[in-house]
Amino acid sequence: MKVDVLLGLQWGDEGKGKIVDVLTRKYDIIARFQGGPNAGHTLEFDGIKHVLHTIPSGIFHKGIKNLIGNGVVIDPSIFCKELAALKEHKVDVKEALLISRKAHLILPTHRILDAASEAAKGKNKIGSTLKGIGPTYMDKTGRNGLRVGDIELEDFKERYDNLKAKHAQLLSHYEYDYETQLAELEPAWFEAIDQIRSLTLIDSEHYLHTALAEGKKVLAEGAQGSLLDIDFGSYPFVTSSTTTCAGSCTGLGIAPNRIERVFGIFKAYCTRVGSGPFPTELFNDDGKYLQEKGHEFGATTGRPRRCGWLDIPALKYAVAINGVTNLIMMKADVMSGFDTIKVCTKYRYKGAEIEHLPYSIDESLIEPVYEEIPGWKEDLTGLDNLEDAPKALKDYLNYVEQKIGVPISILSVGPNRTQTIELEKLPL
Ligand code: GDP
Ligand code: IMO
Ligand code: MG
Repeated sequence: MKVDVLLGLQWGDEGKGKIVDVLTRKYDIIARFQGGPNAGHTLEFDGIKHVLHTIPSGIFHKGIKNLIGNGVVIDPSIFCKELAALKEHKVDVKEALLISRKAHLILPTHRILDAASEAAKGKNKIGSTLKGIGPTYMDKTGRNGLRVGDIELEDFKERYDNLKAKHAQLLSHYEYDYETQLAELEPAWFEAIDQIRSLTLIDSEHYLHTALAEGKKVLAEGAQGSLLDIDFGSYPFVTSSTTTCAGSCTGLGIAPNRIERVFGIFKAYCTRVGSGPFPTELFNDDGKYLQEKGHEFGATTGRPRRCGWLDIPALKYAVAINGVTNLIMMKADVMSGFDTIKVCTKYRYKGAEIEHLPYSIDESLIEPVYEEIPGWKEDLTGLDNLEDAPKALKDYLNYVEQKIGVPISILSVGPNRTQTIELEKLPL
């Protein structure tokens, strides 16, 4: 069997959690492949709103395995809080949740290093979620990191102390008082490590290879979005992992020729949280309208999300890098109310008009060129089929499909599981 991948095409928060939850029934295994508690994936069903950070978004479906892959970084304390929040939903986590031994651990000192590094950057800060993501991936590539499998070793505490000592050395270069914070964080961290020992830790690549050979279907769940990718995002205002399709191979141990469908998910407009360039950002009432109507506040940090019009060159770029086979458009309901909608189709860049994403998308170099198309006023939140959709929405869908050259397979018209319209029968 093959693996399908679902990932974000913008700056994150496209609605990955909701759609993974909707698609879960069609799969046997949902596998997160990168990122960590910087992610916040929101699911809404049966009057419940639930935010997941590290745990894959298939966790509420009985009989499905949810794998935290080797490419993920885990903060034991945050992870155990997530587990506690699942208790009332009676999820059998020992059965439903599998953790790769090769996933890296976020130490309390990684979080502190993240905060110290951001504070030192001043106005140039990345706008990190301060979950220790950057320092943990740095230790991974620097070959210093601690992995989940290490907690099963006799000398785990010694390994921890060695890495903590390295971090103390690094922290001595910052003017950052951290001893109290560390003393507060450490006890809960070690308690959480004990709890993780009691869960199902596995050699996940082997598990997946076996499952695929047995004909099981896997959906790989991405975190963040392609424009936050460490290589292809708006560097340095990015996260520290490979958020693109290639990350599902390295983050799960799956070969590229195993991948079948790539679901690329995007909002009908654009948002970004944290610092960094955003060519189509709106600073006017239209931006405020999208932010308020779309409840655009971070699921992890609560920070307001910056809002802007859809950016076609950026979307095309993300589709190309990921090899997207099926598009998913989210939050169409939030776009109701505009007389006309603007769509960025090219950029004015260094005196010329270009249709691709250049090396730098810094505001000083780039100016979006817009086309204006009719909007719609109807409330879409009760819509359950395309035929009944306003003509202007159908035209918008066609317009985007034409520009990108990939079909839109799913349309989302509200946060709830049920507010999802399959536009073409997916042969899953
Ligand atoms: P993720 O990180 O990609 O999983 O997305 P987030 O959960 O961070 O942000 C998406 C937000 O939009 C959440 O609050 C969802 O409940 C909400 N949402 C998802 N799809 C829709 C939709 O079609 N319409 C509206 N109005 N809200 C949506
Ligand atoms: P989901 O999976 C939106 C952003 C941060 C910051 C930058 C680096 O919910 O879509 P980091 O903590 O990774 O060092 O932050 O990336 N960021 C996200 N923005 N959604 C996310 O995840 C994000 N994860 C990180 O705001 O700009
Ligand atoms: Mg999110």
